[in-house]
Amino acid sequence: MLFKRSPSWAIPESAVTPESVYLNRRKFMAGTLASAAALALPGVLKAEGANIPGETLPFTAMPEFSTNEDKAPYEAVTSYNNFYEFGTGKGDPARYADAMSVDPWSIAVEGECAKTGTYALEDLLSPGDYQERIYRLRCVEAWSMVIPWVGVPLADVLKRLEPTSKAKYVYFETLHDPDQMRGQRSMFSVIDWPYREGLRMDEAMNELSFLAVGLYGKTLPNQNGAPARLVIPWKYGFKSIKSIVRIRFMEGRPKTSWEMIAPEEYGFYANVNPEVDHPRWSQKRERRLPSGLLSPNWIETEKFNGYGEQVAGLYKGMDLSRYY
Ligand code: MTE
Repeated sequence: MLFKRSPSWAIPESAVTPESVYLNRRKFMAGTLASAAALALPGVLKAEGANIPGETLPFTAMPEFSTNEDKAPYEAVTSYNNFYEFGTGKGDPARYADAMSVDPWSIAVEGECAKTGTYALEDLLSPGDYQERIYRLRCVEAWSMVIPWVGVPLADVLKRLEPTSKAKYVYFETLHDPDQMRGQRSMFSVIDWPYREGLRMDEAMNELSFLAVGLYGKTLPNQNGAPARLVIPWKYGFKSIKSIVRIRFMEGRPKTSWEMIAPEEYGFYANVNPEVDHPRWSQKRERRLPSGLLSPNWIETEKFNGYGEQVAGLYKGMDLSRYY
């Protein structure tokens, strides 16, 4: 299978240290500059958010959906990405995703629901309801970051589309536009475009499932999946599909991109689980970014990425080593 050649995000973390060294240096520099500036000018830290590009979004902080763990700096969240539509290197999305135009943006709604049709993104969202949730994002490659997202509960959007009783799954697709997405023009791509993901309906309706439109209080940068992407914090990052243009309610389980590429390595469920290793590497630990050669920052991976209280019930009686 083509995929046996391994895409770059499927390599062991030891192979991506140059980026982590880079990130660490950036963090160090940012920290030094910030503390120097703070010493010189006491008000400066308040202005930090103002230096983050993007439109400021109104939101309500949600302490019950947050964590006190150190957040990854904005620089790290927006420069170390997986978004194969723009290339397989971690820096490619930040370098090339500006070629994607995200305004206007529409989403096609299809399948088992009363409100099928094509919607302007803003008609699916109500900015007055935006929340901030600070979630851990755990990539299947064994790195993780803590990211402050802004968005709406996915359930709120899906409920308004009135799924029928036949809707057992919900499927999502990313934009397919090779003119704007250079990775889709590549002859070496392992993905059969568009990028596809899906959830069981009860997973999609879980209170943790989130449709993000921003991070760090501002609209999403393109490399993070502008203008709207999923954030499913108890699953490996590849389930958190970016730049969504299609939502389809389905009776049967949809085919999803990584499962299509290598079903023995990437399952439909993809719940974070230290007890079930990837066939080619361990999932027991993860590198919390930013990190570096001298401070690799390995931590223990928690089952369901630490969100078991909210989601373990979804999988009662299921053999998670079989349904990985
Ligand atoms: N969505 C699309 N359309 N294309 C992708 O390549 N990569 C996934 C996920 N969503 C991906 C995607 C993977 S592997 C991860 S870890 C997360 O996006 C990374 O999100 P981030 O770059 O915002 O941290």
